[in-house]
Amino acid sequence: MISTSYLVKEAWNLLEKSVVYYRGRAVGTVAAQDPYVEALNYDQCFMRDFVPCALLFLIKGQSEIVRNFLIETLTLQSSDKQMDCFNAGQGLMPASFKVKHQDGEQFLIADFGEHAIGRVTPVDSCLWWLILLRAYVQATGDIDLAHRPEFQQGMMLILKLCLADRFDMYPTMLVPDGAFMIDRRMGVYGHPLEIQALFYAALRSARELLAPGRRGDVFRQIVNQRLSVLNYHIREYYWIDLKRLNDIYRYRGEEFGETAINKFNIYPDSIPDWLTEWIPETGGYLAGNLGPAQMDFRFFTLGNLMAVVSSLASDHESHSIMELIEQRWSDLVGYMPMKICFPAVEDLEWKILTGCDPKNVPWSYHNGGNWPVLLWPLAAAAQKTGRTDLAWRAIEVAERRLSEDEWAEYYDGRNGRLVGKACRKFQTWTIAGYLLAREFLEHPDKLSLLSFDEDPEMLEWLCYFREG
Ligand code: GLC
Repeated sequence: MISTSYLVKEAWNLLEKSVVYYRGRAVGTVAAQDPYVEALNYDQCFMRDFVPCALLFLIKGQSEIVRNFLIETLTLQSSDKQMDCFNAGQGLMPASFKVKHQDGEQFLIADFGEHAIGRVTPVDSCLWWLILLRAYVQATGDIDLAHRPEFQQGMMLILKLCLADRFDMYPTMLVPDGAFMIDRRMGVYGHPLEIQALFYAALRSARELLAPGRRGDVFRQIVNQRLSVLNYHIREYYWIDLKRLNDIYRYRGEEFGETAINKFNIYPDSIPDWLTEWIPETGGYLAGNLGPAQMDFRFFTLGNLMAVVSSLASDHESHSIMELIEQRWSDLVGYMPMKICFPAVEDLEWKILTGCDPKNVPWSYHNGGNWPVLLWPLAAAAQKTGRTDLAWRAIEVAERRLSEDEWAEYYDGRNGRLVGKACRKFQTWTIAGYLLAREFLEHPDKLSLLSFDEDPEMLEWLCYFREG
């Protein structure tokens, strides 16, 4: 077996090769450097893919590339985001960008989804941008960058877009399908957990970064208010464990008015068969999505782990999530940490939810595939909850295959034993995810770049709310 020091060295070499330069400055990393297949847009810098790289660069004191990335993507925010003459919201951040060479000059070209397969909106980009800006400030102490007028303006545009009044009764953010890491139709429209966890972390970041002054204070007040209700809503209604499942199983439907217990009118018959066997005696998780008469009972990994890291999940819930991962190890971690969601949708459900997507067949890609990039949020959540034993175990599993399989993007099969059918090799966030997971375990203090403690404002709000 390849030694850890060799793996780490190989990973760093590959990561350095993935860096994108613009007018002589490092500004990001390409998504993959696969020599075997056509690049399509994998030669671009994706916002979400750059996040683990950026955190790693910050930890290693190479903050310049992150600073450049934040500055350049901010200028892209104000560029044209048009498709067929329709203008998307101002605060939107691109899914990806690339450097274009023309007449001896270089330009950045952004993709806000108008080129992407399915023309999907990258809602997560502006959320990751805020989270990353806060991580940069944490690592460098350079609050001046965040306080620059153009940064404040960019933040406020994002907040306006995210906090705008919509046709919605919930404090969670309503998004179209494919608005985040799962950027294809997978039945993840509505109020998906991953977006809510990123939304929560982004709002907490913004609260720290808004400059003092009248405008900042107004936004801070709105952000504060939303944080508490969002937090309450997720903890109260998304949580699933054996006890909650029992409650749902005996729910009455059609309850009208304020005293309704089954507020979202979830019908017991919608509990999927797999869940009653699968839910352990101890341990639990946050549901994938919640809407009227609709609870997506699938386990979505990034949403759950980011909920732990950001303290969107309560302390008790966070520990239970880690416990569930331990108890359902072969389903969720298997031969490559870890599954993007569990279980896969199959047959008619696959046809309806994915639109017959051949890339998202059961137990492949977004439909229950295993993604090594998820090693870093696993390590972060494990560190936060004191379950580093689980993360080390996962790293050991990953180390057996990562280099041999040329840093594959994802794996297929129920336990992640097969290298993904259409996956890229030398995928940058696989490489960075491995290195970052090790950093979080070896240097626990570095987790503060990304994590948040329980929100004291939330506790105050709860007392106020419960006392009526
Ligand atoms: C795929 C993934 C997406 C990722 C992109 C680049 O489209 O679904 O999450 O950002 O590849 O790696």
